[in-house]
Amino acid sequence: MIHIAVLGFGVVGGGVVEVMEENASRIARSAAEEISVKYILDVRDFPENPWAALMVQDFSVIENDPDVRIVVETIGGAGVAYDFTKRALLHGKSVVTSNKELVATRGLELIRIAKERNVNYLFEASVGGGIPIIRPITQCLAANEIDEVYGILNGTTNYILTRMIACGVSFDEALKQAQEKGYAEKDPSADLEGLDACRKICILSDLCFGREVDVENVKTEGIAGVKAGDVESAKRLGYKIKLLGRGLRTGKDTVTAYVAPHLIPVGSLLSNVDGVMNGIVVHGNAIGEAMFYGAGAGKRPTASAVVADVIDAAKHFKARKYLDWDEASPGSFTDSDEVVSRWYVRAEGKDACLTEPMSKYEVMELTGGQVPLSLFRVLE
Ligand code: HSE
Repeated sequence: MIHIAVLGFGVVGGGVVEVMEENASRIARSAAEEISVKYILDVRDFPENPWAALMVQDFSVIENDPDVRIVVETIGGAGVAYDFTKRALLHGKSVVTSNKELVATRGLELIRIAKERNVNYLFEASVGGGIPIIRPITQCLAANEIDEVYGILNGTTNYILTRMIACGVSFDEALKQAQEKGYAEKDPSADLEGLDACRKICILSDLCFGREVDVENVKTEGIAGVKAGDVESAKRLGYKIKLLGRGLRTGKDTVTAYVAPHLIPVGSLLSNVDGVMNGIVVHGNAIGEAMFYGAGAGKRPTASAVVADVIDAAKHFKARKYLDWDEASPGSFTDSDEVVSRWYVRAEGKDACLTEPMSKYEVMELTGGQVPLSLFRVLE
């Protein structure tokens, strides 16, 4: 019997415990051993829940219990979650997480600690909710030099844009529904302002390009600037507006990444990724293009990815998974505004138009330095 502890009994943590119990025999078959939740840590009391007997509030109980070999961190954030993750790894326990903020900001350090202790730090659920993407990039596509990764990485904003475009629901109503369904972060500004997508594109870029992309360097724009008029103009021009995270090689040893709304041709695969679904495109020199699609947020889809990592950790107690990247070197991250593309421009008193391919700086020169009402890249 393998014992695990779940830190944080929120939407994802609750989903993990639920799926562990519901699919116990299937999970035992996959792991070749039964896996059981021994503790659930949360600062709150849940007297009515069926797992009340497993609840603890003191992490040292888990830390000092040698029976617990895998810790699931679904607390979120980079505060106490960082402290507990580090302590668990230092105590020789593997850690599985859905916490993109922690992986994006402290992943390199935590992976190094895991390496030193010969345990695993796994984070399939940190990007794309239930979509398999971390393992495909690091294992199935390991033969490729990857030059670009991009996609719809935030379920909440995609849900809001879809509801607004297709159902005429107001922004506030759509956000409320996303929160009720457990898609949005506690503080929805991380979703709406693109920060959640930024963390995810950093993790994908780290893995695809093999060097750290710092969240602080990634220019990030959310959906606040997308107006109803833009949605209509885009439609007239044959496009849909979607929030994308994008990471790409810009030279032999340089990369960039950014998050921004884009115009995507109607009929392309990504343009049909609606609602809470995410779609991620990876471009490798052997495979060409591969796209991954599925539920990007929500209790059970995210739990599906977390529990799969628990099984993988259970099968690799004596072997490390090769999830890894290096520190960035000076000058290895370039300015994303230099990346050339066509642009959608809407200015005061002028119709929306699409430019020839150019950098953002060249567009700004064309507009005499005046910031247009809307300025979005066009994905061809
Ligand atoms: N708030 C996130 C989203 C949850 O909407 O995509 C999954 O990371």
